[in-house]
Parts: sequence; C-alpha cells; structure tokens
Amino acid sequence: MVSKVTVKAPSSTANLGPGFDVFGLAVDAFYDTVTLTRTKNGIKIITDDDIPTNPEKNTAGLVVKNMKKKFKIGEGVEIKIKKGIPAGFGMGSSAASAAATAVAFDKLFSLKLNGNSLVEFAGSGEKASAGTVHYDNVAASVLGGFVIVKTNPLDIIRIEPPANLRMCVAVPTINVPKKKTKVSRGVIPKKIKLTDSILNLSNASAIVAGFMKKDPEMIGNSIKDVIVEPARKHMIPGFTKVKENAIKAGALGVTISGAGPSVIAFSKSSADLKKISLAMSKGFASANTKCQTIICKPSKGAADKRK
Ligand code: HSE
Repeated sequence: MVSKVTVKAPSSTANLGPGFDVFGLAVDAFYDTVTLTRTKNGIKIITDDDIPTNPEKNTAGLVVKNMKKKFKIGEGVEIKIKKGIPAGFGMGSSAASAAATAVAFDKLFSLKLNGNSLVEFAGSGEKASAGTVHYDNVAASVLGGFVIVKTNPLDIIRIEPPANLRMCVAVPTINVPKKKTKVSRGVIPKKIKLTDSILNLSNASAIVAGFMKKDPEMIGNSIKDVIVEPARKHMIPGFTKVKENAIKAGALGVTISGAGPSVIAFSKSSADLKKISLAMSKGFASANTKCQTIICKPSKGAADKRK
C-alpha cells in the first residue's frame, strides 16, 4: 500500500478558437504539482501559494472530497499543492491542480479508473473556480495532447498532436477579476446566428482534421472564432494589435487562450517563434501592458502512461 503519491499536470489551452468548451490542448508552458498523503481523517490542504485552503473552495480539495465520498474511503488525505501555472490567465491553472489530484487519488487508493472517470472527477473540482463544470481544460490536463469533449454522456476523444506544432503564449500582466472565468462566460451571447455557427463549425471540423492529418497549417489556419472571441476581446487590452502583429510575424492563427486574458498563436516549429513572441509583446505594449511570453509545444497529460 502506498502512503504518498506525487503527480505533475500540465497547463492547457481551451477552445482553440471555434471549439468553445469542446477543444483542449495540453501545453508544456507550466505545470502544477500535487502530493497526496494518507492521514487518519479529514482533508487538509498545504500550500505556499495564494489559493484557498478550505477544501470546499479549492479545486483539489473538492476532487478529494468527491472521490472519497464516491469510493467510501474513510481515511483522511493531506493535499500539498505547488502551483506553477499562473491562476486566472486562461492557461488551465485550476484544471491542472484538479487533474493532478484526481490522478494522484486514483494511484493512492489503487482505483484503476479509466480516462473518462478521471476527467469527470477532475471536472467536479473545477466547479470551485469556474462556477460551472466544463471539461476542456481538465481533459487536456489529465490525458495530454489534443482532446475533444463529447458530453451527455461524457466521452473524451484524444488525438496525438503533430510533433511540429508550436504555440507562442503571451500572458499579460494585468489584474484579473476574482471569478474571472465566471465573468468572461457572462459576456458570451446566449443566441447566435446560424451563419456564425456554420463558420465556427467548419473551422472546428478543419481543426480536428488538421490534428488527424498531423498538419499544423490546417490547424493554425482554422483557428477562427466569430462567436466567443468577438464578445470577449474587449477584456484583453491590445488584443486586436497582439493578434495582428503575431499574424504579420508569421503565426498561422491567433486567439484567446481559454477564457483569457492570455493570447495564443499557433505555428509550425520551422516558424520564427521568437519573432512572433516579440510581435505579441509589442502588441500588448501598444496598450501600455506588459506580458510574459512562452514558446511551447503540446504536452503529455498527468495520467499519460507513456512517460
Ligand atoms: N471553455 C472555457 C471558457 C474555458 O472559455 O469559458 C475556461 O477555462
């Protein structure tokens, strides 16, 4: 019987433009690390980071609570969280802690759950920060690579990304609202035009085809969203310029990473990625905003057994 398990989970980008709440991609930009230790009773959270330590208000705490209840585990669990992913910037920070926790809990109590169940438990923890359950980030963080979230019933389809796919992420140095995901979900239109839906569906289909064909150009050229991005972009200072600059510098497609405010550009490894990153920084600078840029590639997931 193991008494302690440590799991590392990657950051992720959700939506990839037209795949709102459906597409996710694990990226090796940042990682969260969670260590679970068996204790006599209760749930205790230990962290040096500025996150809630009340298990009811913490993504990892909720995952442990839900899994303990479901599998009738009477023992206690200590959760040690080390955040590497900036929280609230659209890089799947809360999802990664939830993903690492679900995978660690599965190992600690030898549950041998399948990918869909792990994603479902990790998603139940996300509720703590987003207010609603959506599985795009958690699925990517648990399974790695590119994921398609099918719901009712939940079924995650994973596709191995092309080896030469690269992303440039720009994380602006701005204050984000406390419940950022909830706020940015509040600005999305409740009704959409059929013509917009057709455009997004055609691009989303081409993105899936691009991953199947291992074709970064098909993926990047299809990162076009006429529904959510136009409604959210006002929340990101300089967004239009950041996007325009990145495309001019050679990026194939640019969009908001998840619910933002990070912006992500998709490219091939042969592109001048430093030039694209610099162009994005200059875009933010035009709105008097600093940013951190990271060049990254798809990552394996917390539960990826091929490590
Ligand atoms: N698909 C979600 C959104 C991701 O865009 O609101 C947020 O984490």
